[in-house]
Amino acid sequence: MAENNNILVIGANGQLGTELTLALVNTYGKDHVITTDIREPTEKISLFEALDVLNQEHLKQIIQAYQISEVYLLAALLSARGEQNPMLTWQVNMDGLIHVLELAREGYIKKVFWPSSIAIFGASTPKKDTPQETITSPDTMYGITKLAGERLCAYYAKKYHIDVRSLRFPGLVGYNALPGGGTTDFAVDIYHKALEGKKYHCFLQENTQLPFMYMPDAVKATMQLMQSQNHQVTVRSSYNITGFSCTPAAIAEAIRKIIPGFEITYEPDFRQQIADSWPDSIDDQMARKDWGWQPAFNLESMTQDMLMNLSRLHKKEIIIDIV
Ligand SMILES: NC(=O)c1ccc[n+]([C@@H]2O[C@H](COP(=O)([O-])OP(=O)(O)OC[C@H]3O[C@@H](n4cnc5c(N)ncnc54)[C@H](O)[C@@H]3O)[C@@H](O)[C@H]2O)c1
Repeated sequence: MAENNNILVIGANGQLGTELTLALVNTYGKDHVITTDIREPTEKISLFEALDVLNQEHLKQIIQAYQISEVYLLAALLSARGEQNPMLTWQVNMDGLIHVLELAREGYIKKVFWPSSIAIFGASTPKKDTPQETITSPDTMYGITKLAGERLCAYYAKKYHIDVRSLRFPGLVGYNALPGGGTTDFAVDIYHKALEGKKYHCFLQENTQLPFMYMPDAVKATMQLMQSQNHQVTVRSSYNITGFSCTPAAIAEAIRKIIPGFEITYEPDFRQQIADSWPDSIDDQMARKDWGWQPAFNLESMTQDMLMNLSRLHKKEIIIDIV
């Protein structure tokens, strides 16, 4: 990578940023990846600068000082946390994106990755195999900001020829970092409780089906999209993308194949209503057709990998029969 072709990750210390940064460092080298966040990292794997994405002047200084050409904008307030502070969610999610897109328009950066979410869909969206183009009627502030963000990305791409790329992620599940306040956080927490030998109290009903993606697939999709040729990227709002769909009960069942005594109870809270407005499953054929997307993990292989890695990290012994 050339000197003036460095990468900036904003919101790098979150669930996705922690793992994406590792992949970027492995691919491009740690001297070419600058990480930023409002909170300090627990472990520094490349150069870190404290940055509030709402401070556009500071953002511009960092972009100039480190000769950044590519930005991964991950800083956001997610669905459940967003409902506790809607105005801050609007500010961080919208102003953060506008700041980055404007710096791209002014010629400071060449390429932008910004994740959207299945939260752009709503209660009136077709739930099964939700198509790329369909009704979008989000009821959460998070979903509203993601939908507006998608339109901004498409607008800047069309009007100013900005190379901005985006994925509508489903619920992400990973073992390296804890989630930051989303409606699908249970799908991470459940593995931690199972490994600690504790009962899990799930905040969604047992039969709530949602789309998910294991973190290695989310990282792979992001890298693949960003490395694709410009002409391959025909969707400039955001691509539908998915790994697999399942319910909390199915995750518990997959865990029981490895930890037989695992117990779960269901105590739905305000997040149930959010989950009920989201799709059951996603049609991601545009991503498959345009740049060859294909997930590697399903529920069973993710469960094995999650438990294996969590037991390694927490030095707990479990026996996993790889099927
Ligand atoms: N995790 C999921 O299931 C999921 C699903 C769909 C989309 N996404 C999207 O992926 C992106 C990353 O999500 P995540 O799960 O890593 O979220 P997260 O909450 O774990 O991480 C977000 C990070 O942004 C930082 N941040 C918050 N406000 C900031 C500010 N003002 N300036 C700078 N940094 C700030 C936080 O400190 C945190 O480290 C988000 O845009 C999110 O909407 C995530």
